[in-house]
Amino acid sequence: MDQDLSNKVVLLRTDFNVPTQNNKIVDFTRINESIPTIKALIEKKATILIVTHRGRPNGKIDTKLSMAPIAIEVEKILKKPIEFIDKIGQRVKNNPKKIFMLENIRFHEEEEKNELNFAKELSKMADIYINDAFSVSHRAHSSLCGIPKFLPSYFGLCMSKEIESLQNSLSTPKKPLLAIIGGSKILTKIDILKNLNKKVDTMIIGGAMANTFLLAKGISIGASLFESQCIDIAQDIINDAKEKNVNLIIPVDGKVAKSLSMNAVAKNKNIEDIETDDMILDLGAESIKIILGELKKAETVIWNGPLGAIEYKPFDQATITVAKELARNCKQKNIKVVAGGGDTIYGINLSKCVKDFTHVSTAGGAFLEWLEGKTLPGVSAILDK
Ligand code: 3PG
Repeated sequence: MDQDLSNKVVLLRTDFNVPTQNNKIVDFTRINESIPTIKALIEKKATILIVTHRGRPNGKIDTKLSMAPIAIEVEKILKKPIEFIDKIGQRVKNNPKKIFMLENIRFHEEEEKNELNFAKELSKMADIYINDAFSVSHRAHSSLCGIPKFLPSYFGLCMSKEIESLQNSLSTPKKPLLAIIGGSKILTKIDILKNLNKKVDTMIIGGAMANTFLLAKGISIGASLFESQCIDIAQDIINDAKEKNVNLIIPVDGKVAKSLSMNAVAKNKNIEDIETDDMILDLGAESIKIILGELKKAETVIWNGPLGAIEYKPFDQATITVAKELARNCKQKNIKVVAGGGDTIYGINLSKCVKDFTHVSTAGGAFLEWLEGKTLPGVSAILDK
């Protein structure tokens, strides 16, 4: 945004819904990603009113979910005082020397109900609206969808980066496009798998969900985790991939153990040799080799979901090996790698090379809905204007 913002109040929607333990932030990523937007606004002498949420207080005040401990950390990063505003509906007085913040917007039941009147009251507090909260933009809430109806509205820098990266990887990717989908549940990823079948050249299935795919192919998986209600769905996805000429890759071997525990005795076994009491807990060496071979051909990679039971060593190895290879390919071959959603970032972080990825989304649910091909209400509220 090029315009001069002195004498303007900007209502900035951020997602400071960050993980905490005993009210201490344990992961600053979402805050850090919004700092460039805040700093750019400070430089333009705007008065900033931050509106954000934390947790799911269900429209009621819950002091455990106050924004106060988060605000203290943001103050430290910005070296600027943050003042809380209680009253909604009054224009904030110009004062670029401090940052203003509303208490957790989800303390108001109108927020999640997407009440237009509430959005109108919020919009009266500012002159301009900026959404920098991609990770909550899959929610049709007042502070995301309602306010743009009343104020000139823009995307923040973090939000723009997220949208651009996801568009470049899914809508207009450099081909071949390869998707890596892991995690334990097909049930939560059916729409993603179906949508990706329409777009990708290669799809790699890992994590416990691969077990259900193996079962669908008639392969015994011993005592491994699977979803009985998803065997037919897995079969449909296999058929659909074939029809669409998608190179669908499921494991040919696994790292197995007799129980899921830290440092369990693990063996590499071909898929045909799985015994009734074996649990497949990670991809095996041959499967990893096949994946690394496929990665060599890809120009764009989308990744969601860990490839094994990453919380338990040594079943984090496939995820770490693939992450390292992708990071190397980003650096050396300039391929584009976009990752996000749920446990994915935790898993990729184990490789300690996440900084080399093209883009790691701050989003969980929003990233998944994007992969499903859905339009996010918080994005369209601004684009449709
Ligand atoms: C998230 O953490 O994914 C976002 O902040 C959205 O939170 P929600 O799932 O409670 O809407």
